[in-house]
Amino acid sequence: MLNDTVAEKLNAQINSELFASHLYMSIAAYFASLDLTGMAKWFQAHSIEEHEHARKLFNFMEKRGGRITIGKLDAPKAEFDSPADAWKTAYEHEKHVTAAIHDIFSAAAEAREYGTTAMLQWFLEEQVEEEDTFRRNYKLALAAGDDEWNLQDMDDRLGQRAPAPMIEE
Ligand code: FEO
Repeated sequence: MLNDTVAEKLNAQINSELFASHLYMSIAAYFASLDLTGMAKWFQAHSIEEHEHARKLFNFMEKRGGRITIGKLDAPKAEFDSPADAWKTAYEHEKHVTAAIHDIFSAAAEAREYGTTAMLQWFLEEQVEEEDTFRRNYKLALAAGDDEWNLQDMDDRLGQRAPAPMIEE
């Protein structure tokens, strides 16, 4: 049986991953509105990836007998000043997710919930990758500014992203 504090934090993280999925669909919609379809596709794929993160945590809690509750999603930010602003919003969100994962890891270690710390290792590594990806793309978008050629080049490259992998059960 999961420690109560750890269960509460894991449950909150499931909801937070679902919000990230929601936010990235909103950013995809913003890029679609600019006809930057490569970036719109990239964020759609990432939205699915965030949903998979929620599902991974859900399946873990289910195995450990934790009670899962799904809450209401807030409306995500829909308007952005520029492509760079949209990337910055996503990058900041990833930093927030990293801090939340660290917090759960600390609580799990304190409660001697070693099954949870082992599971969270995957998320710690994932966050290193995600922060790096979002930071790099934010800097590229910042450098592109409103230069249409540079934005199109970035858009073409990001549009080649493969569909998000499904996480095993
Ligand atoms: Fe589920 Fe992008 O962190």
